[in-house]
Amino acid sequence: TDGEVAARIVGLLRGYPDHPRPGVVFQDLSPLYAEPGLLAELADRADALFAGAYDRVLAVESRGFVLGAVIAARRGVPLTLARKPGKLPGATHQAAYTLEYGTDSLELQRDAVAPGDRVLVVDDVLATGGTLAAVAELVAAADAKVAGMAVVVELTGLGGAERLADHRVAALSEVA
Ligand code: PRP
Ligand code: MG
Repeated sequence: TDGEVAARIVGLLRGYPDHPRPGVVFQDLSPLYAEPGLLAELADRADALFAGAYDRVLAVESRGFVLGAVIAARRGVPLTLARKPGKLPGATHQAAYTLEYGTDSLELQRDAVAPGDRVLVVDDVLATGGTLAAVAELVAAADAKVAGMAVVVELTGLGGAERLADHRVAALSEVA
């Protein structure tokens, strides 16, 4: 069941206090990825939640590449990468987002997503939602549609779900 999968994820997560900065608890997904078969199972769960509703996966650099690539491969749909600034060649759309200190941005190649495409956005963790909100801007800039957003873990209490209220967001697990 969804509850059993969520419990399994939470049981494998490792929280590291004060990484990378004091006051932040870093949720390390490495033990999940090391578990044989689990990543494919998570990909299939995420896929099932949006079955038939998306034509393409957009995976978010860096940590969103892991699950995003597996979902795209198992569903057999195109994979597109939203990347950090200056990495993608050619013309790009750009969207800035706020970090604890300062801002960062993500880019999408202008010819990567066709107008009207239904895009499943994939990342590892949802915290404040700033990253996924920026990716939604990229999808809108390409005249495509966000079919949904899938993450392995939602860190609750940071306002992420509220910030992304306009979208169908599926978290395979939650941590307070
Ligand atoms: C982390 C995580 C998510 C984002 C979530 O990425 O992988 O992408 O933060 O935070 P938010 O909901 O508050 O935006 P990070 O920016 O640390 O980069 P990385 O994936 O390249 O490690
Ligand atoms: Mg990230």
